[in-house]
This record gives sequence, C-alpha cells and structure tokens, in this order.
Amino acid sequence: GISNARAVRVDSPLSSVPSEAVDIDWDALGFGLVHTDYMYTMKCSLGGNFSNGELVPFGNIEINPSAGVLNYGQGLFEGLKAYRREDGNILLFRPKENATRMMMGAERMCMPSPSVDQFLQAVKATVLANERWIPPPGKGSLYIRPLLMGTGSILGLGPAPEYTFLIYVSPVGNYFKEGLSPINLLVETDMHRACPGGTGGVKTIGNYAAVLKAQGAAKAKGFSDVLYLNSVNKKLLEEVSSCNIFVVKGNTISTPEIEGTILPGITRKSIIDMARDQGFQVFEKPVTVDELLEADEVFCTGTAVVVSPVGSITYLGKRVTYGSGGVGVVSQRLYSELTRLQMGLVDDKMGWTVEL
Ligand code: COI
Repeated sequence: GISNARAVRVDSPLSSVPSEAVDIDWDALGFGLVHTDYMYTMKCSLGGNFSNGELVPFGNIEINPSAGVLNYGQGLFEGLKAYRREDGNILLFRPKENATRMMMGAERMCMPSPSVDQFLQAVKATVLANERWIPPPGKGSLYIRPLLMGTGSILGLGPAPEYTFLIYVSPVGNYFKEGLSPINLLVETDMHRACPGGTGGVKTIGNYAAVLKAQGAAKAKGFSDVLYLNSVNKKLLEEVSSCNIFVVKGNTISTPEIEGTILPGITRKSIIDMARDQGFQVFEKPVTVDELLEADEVFCTGTAVVVSPVGSITYLGKRVTYGSGGVGVVSQRLYSELTRLQMGLVDDKMGWTVEL
C-alpha cells in the first residue's frame, strides 16, 4: 500500500493553509506540473468503502513494487479545472460529471470508487487547501487531477486488494505550445488507441500510454498531435490523444458518437449542448475521414485543451488546411462562450459551474 512518512493530518485546512502569495510568473504558465501545498488521499480495501480521506503535504508517495497499478495498469484518472473569478470566488466546472465518469470507469476496471459526494468534497477540500495556486482571472486555471489506483500488492493477475484515491493540483495555462493558434494533426493509420470491447471509453491510464508512440513520431515530424481512426476499418474518426474531435460544415457540427472506444469528454458534451443552443445542428454519429477532409472547420475539445482549433490535417501524405491559418469563426465563438462561462463572466443559465 501507500504511505507517506511526512504526512500531517490537516483537520482544519481552511485555517492552516499558507496564504502568502506564491512566487510564480502567471504569464508563463503552460501545461506542466507546478508543485503545490497539499494533496488529498483516501483508501479503501477491495469490496469495502472509501473513508478517512485527508489532506497531506504534496510530495512523493511510497508504493509497493507489486501494486496492481504498477504491474497490471489498474488505474484511472480524471481532469477538471478551478477558475478564479474577478470577485475572488472560485468556480469548478461540472465536477459531478467527473465523479460519475470515475465511477463508471472503476466498474470497468474492477475497482471500488469514491461516491459522488466523497469525490466532490475531496475536490473542494483540495482546491481550497491550494487556493493560493489558482491563477488570477484570465491567467489560467488550477488543473485538478484525481487518480484512482490499485495500490495493494498483487502478484497473480487479479484486482488489487487495496485502492487509493488521490488528488493533486497544478496551475496551468494553455495545453498546446501553439497556445490558441490552430494545431496541426496527423491522422494515424497504423496504430490504434482502442478497439471494440476494450477500455477506450473509460479514462484508464493505459489508454494514454498506448498513444505515446504514434504521438512521439508525429511530434518528431512537426505535428501537434495525432488523430486516431477506428480499428475495425480505419475509415471513421475516433479522437486525438488527449481530446475529442469535431468537424464543422455549414450550420452542421458532427462529432464521433460514444460507442465504447471514445472517451466521453465533459467539454465534448458541453460544446454539443452549447452549439445546439446557438442554433447549430449537432450530430453524434460515425464521422468519416472524407467528412473531415471536406470540413469548413475542425476543432478539438477537452478539459486540458479547452477548444483547440485545427489548422491542418495530414492524411496519407495529403495535407488539408482550414481557415487559411486563422482560428475558425465557429471554433472561436464556442471557445469564447465556454471559457466565459467557466470563468464566471457570463450568466450560467446551464447551471454548470459550482461556486466554492
Ligand atoms: C484532460 O483534458 O483533462 C485530460 O485528461 C487529457 C490529458 C491527457 C491531459
């Protein structure tokens, strides 16, 4: 199991968190780890319930070499963000969606999971304990990374006997080095991230290791990332390594349907609702490579990437560009509306933000 020799129980995080300003250049934030003050941990045995969660100083964890997560990949992660509003209040974006997605993933990965309420309480406590690391309004957000992992020892293949739920946070800026400029994607035609019946539809850690090889090769050629195709006939779009994909044609927006191999993104779901609300016809359906190449605009969505416009797609050596290098109007409009809502700059008629 996990232990942390320097762990100090923080019974009253609100009164004991350091409040001095942190020494950080908010304008230089990218998507890299910045160590913060506290992390949250909570344990559970197989067949039991999570309890006694606590905030401990952020730092390394100790783990048995035979832990299920290290040997057999029994692990899940989540990602969500906290924003600082102009009035000083803190906003979370649809955190309950992350809690329920983790529960669904845990079921697929044979792990116990915190309840929705435990998840939400833990996220709130962790954000408040690290409040001074939330970027000022307009400078980025506090990325919250919940982990669920089989930390108990297991040598023969099976579910681990003990589990740890852990949350750490880091202030972040833009995910892609391009910032808000359009990214260049390579369609991967050999390797796949998921297959029918597999785990592509849950946020298990192995899905992300599986994309590193194709992603690395694409980056070495100057691409921002890779777009995956379905493994059955390589004709349908799935997703990008770290985000979902949308294609725009006239007043129609299409995105691959959720059928088991695609991660059900919370930003994806939100953009679908927002676009419909704005009068677009939105389809969740099989999307072909041909539709991608003939689109007016293409963009990606994700918690980390937010809404990222795509400037070009390269497929079998052929490069198609969109919007002559600039950000597409639909992408720009959806990006603005989403981020203004997340930052608390517009009225939240959807009821998506949670104030701390
Ligand atoms: C997120 O968008 O939060 C993700 O989980 C993607 C991750 C690869 C950064």
